[in-house]
Amino acid sequence: MNRDLGVFCEDALYEGDALALLPQIPTGSVDLIVTDPPFAIDFKANRLNYNRKGSNVLDGYHEIPEEEYPDFTRQWIAESARVLSPTGSMYIFSGWNRLRDILEGIDSAGLTTVNHLIWKYQFGVFTKKKYVTSHYHILFAAKDPKRYTFNKVDHYPEDVWVINREYWKGKKKTPTKLPAELVKKILAYSSNPGDLVLDPFLGSGTVAVVAQGEQRHFLGFEIVPEYCNFARACLAGKAGKR
Ligand SMILES: C[S@@+](CC[C@H](N)C(=O)[O-])C[C@H]1O[C@@H](n2cnc3c(N)ncnc32)[C@H](O)[C@@H]1O
Repeated sequence: MNRDLGVFCEDALYEGDALALLPQIPTGSVDLIVTDPPFAIDFKANRLNYNRKGSNVLDGYHEIPEEEYPDFTRQWIAESARVLSPTGSMYIFSGWNRLRDILEGIDSAGLTTVNHLIWKYQFGVFTKKKYVTSHYHILFAAKDPKRYTFNKVDHYPEDVWVINREYWKGKKKTPTKLPAELVKKILAYSSNPGDLVLDPFLGSGTVAVVAQGEQRHFLGFEIVPEYCNFARACLAGKAGKR
């Protein structure tokens, strides 16, 4: 059965600004949102950050100016909360530097934070006068704290996940790609086959690709045309690794 997604089709990716596209999704139609939003730091998507061959890293990563970030965050989280189904939930990735904006966005949208997960990984940089950042925050928030999908996949599901970033030797990728294993774990716990999974900030489209592989429906947005095309190619099995 196809659900009503208004102007959108199920299992499709759209190029555009999430702030303009999210309001066009009908209320209550999405089961799970998994997303890694832009950071609002002076992030240079180039080979220096990631020690990769420049030609294999796609350029054009779209950043949000720092002064606009709190408002931007409040807006997209409020719209995301609206589109979630009554049993829906959301996983938001955040570095430590903008965490307060994400937490405020979750609160002001009326969502309940169920868990504050830590994703630990090997970052691969060296520092002289500070500790090496080797973790990310993942906020797991539900629309209704008494009624949300949670499949107890492991007997003892801890809130610290150690999953390394993927190294795509000689293959094109975007600089902030999430590991497929991480997204797969989220989908296993917080969705069921046939559910609709949304990522409003697709990047290379990992969330859509994994959703497709796990028999979930998906919908995704990305503002950078080159990234959106790359995500579509990944979905079609014509780019990257599945
Ligand atoms: C951190 S990345 C997502 C990485 C992704 N999870 C992956 O595995 O590749 C955030 C993405 O959001 C995109 N973006 C930034 N502002 C946006 C907006 N207003 N609407 C849609 N996408 C946006 C950026 O271009 C970037 O690709």
